[in-house]
Amino acid sequence: MHRHLLALGTSSAYPCGMAREDCPNCSGTGWKVVEQPGSNQEARAFAAADGAHVGSATGEPKTVWAVPCDCTVGDRHSRILERARLPKRYQHCNFESFDTDLGYSGTEAAAWNRSLLQAKLEVHGFARNFPVGTEHGLLLMGTCGVGKTHLAVAALEEIILRGHSGLFYDYRELLKQIQDSYNPESNSTEMSVLEPVLTTEVLLLDDLGSSKPSAWALETVGHILNTRYNDHRVTLLTTNFLDVPVPPAPGSASTGMRNTSVRPPSTEDSLTERVGMRIRSRLFEMCRTVEISAPDYRKEIRHAGHFHA
Ligand SMILES: Nc1ncnc2c1ncn2[C@@H]1O[C@H](COP(=O)(O)OP(=O)(O)O)[C@@H](O)[C@H]1O
Ligand SMILES: [Mg+2]
Ligand SMILES: [Zn+2]
Repeated sequence: MHRHLLALGTSSAYPCGMAREDCPNCSGTGWKVVEQPGSNQEARAFAAADGAHVGSATGEPKTVWAVPCDCTVGDRHSRILERARLPKRYQHCNFESFDTDLGYSGTEAAAWNRSLLQAKLEVHGFARNFPVGTEHGLLLMGTCGVGKTHLAVAALEEIILRGHSGLFYDYRELLKQIQDSYNPESNSTEMSVLEPVLTTEVLLLDDLGSSKPSAWALETVGHILNTRYNDHRVTLLTTNFLDVPVPPAPGSASTGMRNTSVRPPSTEDSLTERVGMRIRSRLFEMCRTVEISAPDYRKEIRHAGHFHA
């Protein structure tokens, strides 16, 4: 029998470059051969829909083509996450692995569980609707360890696995890159740093306010948020800082700040204090806020072994 396996395209003899070497199905080539009776045209249509490489069988009513082997699927997944700069330590974060029952009883515990469930539903809904939703972002607020990054990463992951572009940036890391690429001559930041941050479909900016940058670096952050907002791009943010009223200047009227249920002891810890008034108001304009009030998940896990019994 004559079987010609014809790979379309020259540079892609490897589907994704990361097949398992000892794979019994593809012997490490990353392609597995599929054959099916029928015309070439059908095969091409089938294969095209499957992202496969079509081969044609000459003189045989049988068509043979190659499709990416299953052993490359996991790699594809992790390559997508890597391309989005998602740190390894967050790669376990998805909606399935997010607990909404901490296993305690009592009214306070019930309120925690409600808060976790509410947050999960809102963030998951946002991810599912993307890019159709009307909101330009989510601002996840809450104290340390309540699962803000977990949920934001879950959303980012779900969206990029559907084929959209996305980037994870730790706030400090972004500031560092902005700072490092600063060009004193042009008084600007390298476009190589800024361009992807400005144009990616979904930007996750994690731990906003975790450091207090220079005025111009903060201005660059403001520029990023404004540009993304104006271009209708989605930004997901997390922050440990709460939106508390800044005491009104003597003699002035009320500041009109939002109230939050949990108040830190001083305005030192307020979001406005950390990122400035302008960015703060931009954030509330472009984002739906999701507040999580729950205990630090890591501490609870460590101190209460009964959680996942
Ligand atoms: N509700 C939850 N269910 C499962 N894991 C959680 C939950 N909340 C937090 N975690 C885990 O606890 C750790 C800290 O959560 P993280 O999202 O980083 O907190 P935050 O960003 O609010 O400080 C992460 O490893 C995260 O996966
Ligand atoms: Mg976090
Ligand atoms: Zn294989």
